Amino acid sequence: MKKVVVIGGGVMGLDIAQVFAKANFDVVIRDISDEVIHNAEARLNKALDKQINKGKLNELGKKALIDKIIFTTELTLAADADLVVEAAVENLEIKKQVFAQLDTICKPSTIFASNTSSISISAIAAATKRPDKFIGIHFFNPAAVMKLVEVIRGANTSDETFDTVFKLVKAIGKEPVSVHEAPGFVVNKILVPMINEACDLVYTGVASIEGVDTAMKLGANHPMGPLALADLIGLDICLAAMDTLYSETHDSKYRASLLLRKMVRAGWLGRKTGKGFYDYSK
Ligand code: NAI
Repeated sequence: MKKVVVIGGGVMGLDIAQVFAKANFDVVIRDISDEVIHNAEARLNKALDKQINKGKLNELGKKALIDKIIFTTELTLAADADLVVEAAVENLEIKKQVFAQLDTICKPSTIFASNTSSISISAIAAATKRPDKFIGIHFFNPAAVMKLVEVIRGANTSDETFDTVFKLVKAIGKEPVSVHEAPGFVVNKILVPMINEACDLVYTGVASIEGVDTAMKLGANHPMGPLALADLIGLDICLAAMDTLYSETHDSKYRASLLLRKMVRAGWLGRKTGKGFYDYSK
């Protein structure tokens, strides 16, 4: 494998692109408009400058990394990709549309992967004529730092595709865990309902935002409180995961907190919009 195309230059896509570029792959990031793609390029520059300031990277390393990544709005650059990793918005219809298009553009051997947090891999794969070459590669936020990658088999994922991707994940320096398709996979089945409970504790006045986060940091030894983590993940992503868990199981324990839904409706999505449970505008 040499060439990886990342669909979506948002929070996850940009970091995933960096991971592959660092592992010496040729990387293309595709997003929907010139404005978004230029913004992604600027964010990468800023992130790499931060690493230089911390002494984790030098100017040469930065240049080498940037030279490995092409920023584009053209999906056709995926034609000769060995792997496509989709990190577009958490919406089944959009993901299906993107992959249906890619299916006609990419060479037959291209492996398709989605970084979805909670959507069924089989459902997305059904939009293509290559469900055997379709798999979940689920990175964690921030993907450049977090070691874990859930490698998720859809109903039709072949053993060959699974083995190739499992080895690839190790080759890029991550720790893969094999997961069979299930709503929320492993981490989000546990983590997102916990975040949802934290939202409810605030909504019902049991404790303040800071109180809930302090309690979980000091009482459960979590490095970060659940509400600060929700801001990092994106409240829209958390809500989409809760809604998927609920719609797939019809179990009321997965009903999204009204506070979470209200905040998403208000556009308070966390760090990426400058406001969530905490204020990031400064
Ligand atoms: P984001 O909202 O930061 O970025 C999504 C990007 O996709 C945006 O730049 C948007 O313009 C772009 N996009 C939308 N439609 C597109 C299309 N047709 N083609 C190309 N780009 C398109 O979202 P984020 O947080 O990066 O999430 C992306 C995916 O990764 C979602 O499926 C999410 O569930 C998953 N994920 C998110 C994590 C998180 O902590 N935020 C963790 C692990 C997975």
